[in-house]
Amino acid sequence: MNILVSGGTGYIGSHTVVELIAAGHSVVIVDNLVNSKIETLDKIEKISGVKPTFYHVDCTDLDKIEAIFKLHTFDGIIHFAGLKAVGESVTIPLAYYYNNLVSTINLSQLALKYKVNKFVFSSSATVYGDQKVPFSEDMALLPTTNPYGETKAMSERILRDTASVNKDFHVSILRYFNPVGAHSSGLIGESPNGIPNNLMPYIQKVANKKLPILSVYGNDYDTPDGTGVRDYIHVVDLAKGHVLAIEKLVDPVEIYNLGSGDGVSVLELLTAFETANKIEIPYKIVDRRAGDIASSYADASKAYKKLGWKTHKTLIDMCKDTWKFEKSNK
Ligand code: NAD
Ligand code: UD1
Repeated sequence: MNILVSGGTGYIGSHTVVELIAAGHSVVIVDNLVNSKIETLDKIEKISGVKPTFYHVDCTDLDKIEAIFKLHTFDGIIHFAGLKAVGESVTIPLAYYYNNLVSTINLSQLALKYKVNKFVFSSSATVYGDQKVPFSEDMALLPTTNPYGETKAMSERILRDTASVNKDFHVSILRYFNPVGAHSSGLIGESPNGIPNNLMPYIQKVANKKLPILSVYGNDYDTPDGTGVRDYIHVVDLAKGHVLAIEKLVDPVEIYNLGSGDGVSVLELLTAFETANKIEIPYKIVDRRAGDIASSYADASKAYKKLGWKTHKTLIDMCKDTWKFEKSNK
């Protein structure tokens, strides 16, 4: 297939491009580089031997995006492009609604106009809100606590409504749990600028002595050790899920959880990182973070049943690959 990947120089997008190329697909990337670097293209080439065609274009710019559809014939679209910082979305909600929703609308409109019938969308487990774990795809979606989460729920709705009245347009909605890790080459991964909000990027900065100590947000949750429980998934396993999702997309709307199905606490992840990399991570327990839930993990059985997908990488792999990437990008 010839696949348009929006956000393809980003963290999950770049790993997915590598796996698409490995599976024999052609890739065209569109990204405005608001949260990624052009050098990622060289790194993708180093890993896969192929430098994908790249357009430095904003998905909210309908005319410029349409120009790409006029130049290429696509069989499918994987839409990663979006802003994703939860805290920032609370302070600049309009920028988040505009960027994330207009991008989804533009790409869907062009998919219909140019008869690109396979569309894969990056959603998030955040759409489940706080309900009984494990989360399964048939659960009701609850309102999220922030505009970022709402853009995911709204984009899902836009795509479902579009698919329901356009018979040939098929959509796969992938709800990611907590993507972590990096490519085993150490060439691509995630290393946010400034102070990270998420746990693994914070741990990697403490390991690298760029930050002094990890704050553990609460140890009084109703979980085995009192700290928050999440479902961490290696980004390469996640990337492979996208390849299967687009190759096997046949129903009008398919929704899959992409997670390992295992709940891991903050302290368990911390210990795994220390064991995997033989580095001590200093930490202190502080108050809970506003908006956090106690536990989030997937019932990942549907993706296994319908796509034959499951995770293969362990928590130790996630920690080793994260550290390898962090060290090689010092
Ligand atoms: P990322 O920021 O690394 O990648 C997103 C890419 O999209 C970046 O390269 C950015 O430059 C680009 N982009 C943003 N707005 C754009 C626009 N208007 N036009 C063109 N390019 C644009 O993030 P990621 O972690 O790779 O996430 C990819 C997708 O998965 C996002 O939609 C995100 O919301 C979703 N998601 C991520 C996580 C996570 O924890 N990383 C979890 C659930 C869902
Ligand atoms: C975050 C996002 C969520 C998104 C998800 C997927 C927030 C508020 N939520 O959630 O919308 O869908 O990522 O990637 O950003 N923790 C610490 N110390 C830290 C950082 C985190 O103890 O410095 C704890 C948290 O309290 C939580 C766990 O680690 O229990 C994981 O946190 P994080 O990596 O931010 O992910 P989510 O909370 O799942």
